[in-house]
Amino acid sequence: MLQFNMKNAAQFVSQQEMDNLRAQMKLAQLQTLEKNGPGNDFLGWVDLPVDYDKEEFNRIKNAATRIQEHSGLLVVVGIGGSYLGARAVIELLSHHFNDYLPGNKRKFPRIVFAGNNISGAYLADLMDVLDEYSVSLNVISKSGTTTEPAIAFRILRNYMEDRYGKEAAKDRIFCTTDRNKGALKHLADQEGYETFVIPDDIGGRYSVLTAVGLLPIAVAGISIDDLMAGAAQGRERFANTSFTDNDAAQYAAARTCLMRKGYEIEILVNYEPAFHYMTEWWKQLQGESEGKDNRGLFPAGVDFSTDLHSMGQYIQAGRRILFETVVSFEDAGRTVEIPKDEANLDGLNFLAGMGMDEVNQKAMQGTVLAHVDGGVPNLAINLSERTAFSCGELIYFFEIACAFAGYLNAINPFDQPGVEAYKNNMYSLLGKPGYEEEGKKLQARIDATK
Ligand code: PA5
Repeated sequence: MLQFNMKNAAQFVSQQEMDNLRAQMKLAQLQTLEKNGPGNDFLGWVDLPVDYDKEEFNRIKNAATRIQEHSGLLVVVGIGGSYLGARAVIELLSHHFNDYLPGNKRKFPRIVFAGNNISGAYLADLMDVLDEYSVSLNVISKSGTTTEPAIAFRILRNYMEDRYGKEAAKDRIFCTTDRNKGALKHLADQEGYETFVIPDDIGGRYSVLTAVGLLPIAVAGISIDDLMAGAAQGRERFANTSFTDNDAAQYAAARTCLMRKGYEIEILVNYEPAFHYMTEWWKQLQGESEGKDNRGLFPAGVDFSTDLHSMGQYIQAGRRILFETVVSFEDAGRTVEIPKDEANLDGLNFLAGMGMDEVNQKAMQGTVLAHVDGGVPNLAINLSERTAFSCGELIYFFEIACAFAGYLNAINPFDQPGVEAYKNNMYSLLGKPGYEEEGKKLQARIDATK
């Protein structure tokens, strides 16, 4: 069960300040639940945990089983919202070293990601390993024309057809895309690939609980039933409950209060390395949703205690524009006991007999107090366990808190107009038909700075 608390932010945000947001929060909740705010055609995720396509859900499970049976490696092609959620859940819940386990201990296929960059070196290296495995491919793109996945898919589809032949490749290529339209849907229909749907009313960064995330997650052996059940509990707890009893609304309000008094950066902190990509997913959720109209918190992330040895100094004593949101697990799943050492050269025998999880817990508690003393407000999200159910609840918590915070800040949390600027420049510089004139102007600017 997820619990939010802000006791370590009490000296920075008073109860009165929180209470003062009550009326605005009520409006933000209404805009989200009654779907009458900006971006209201992208609110399909609100009821998704209980209102999803059960026939497709079963088809996802069947496809995942087939992939598990005939493939040792699944390549997931997608970028942004079409990849981060799957990677986040898979890394949070899988064995940390799944890919290095010997065959008799590894229960599920290795999963690798492509089409999330334009690095030729990355894709060339990936191509080097494909021959070693039986391969399946899941390409995920709502538009079907996003440059990064489209380039990777071109190359990987050729590989699959050369290796398996056009007919057999069809059983190994799965497309997740728009229900009716777009280049990928068109190609999938033409070639006979199995397709899964990205609903019209769910944007990329809110799509992890659709086929976008569910197919790769199921292939990784994670229970998508439990994931959805956790999200359904999240909806029950965080959608319709009143401000005081609603942890997501409280979190959204606390970060809004902090932002309005000059804290510009929210750092999502974890103490479990498996959480790293959840932070990447959260960064996209918050960054694309809030960073517009010259406003919004800058979402950052650190993995502790690793990053206490790199970013810890700045957080403790740098510019006081930061606050932290610490995600912790009461039970992270496994631990290792610290042994006694006769020589005790490292002086750590006082830890002998303790689990590493206990040390990790104390590191967290000590760090929170040090950072609060250093002027860094701390918000806390506590999860009882690192399971698919908890993960589903956390996903829903973050999604709805992001919507509430966006409406509190009077922006449209569901568009991303700023993403187009780099694409237009890239197309112009690459000489895409129709972009030639702009390309010449940009090239002149580049030449002038050489
Ligand atoms: O959140 C978003 O909308 C983006 O990150 C998209 O998911 C990303 O650009 C990929 O788009 P598409 O699925 O159309 O390839």
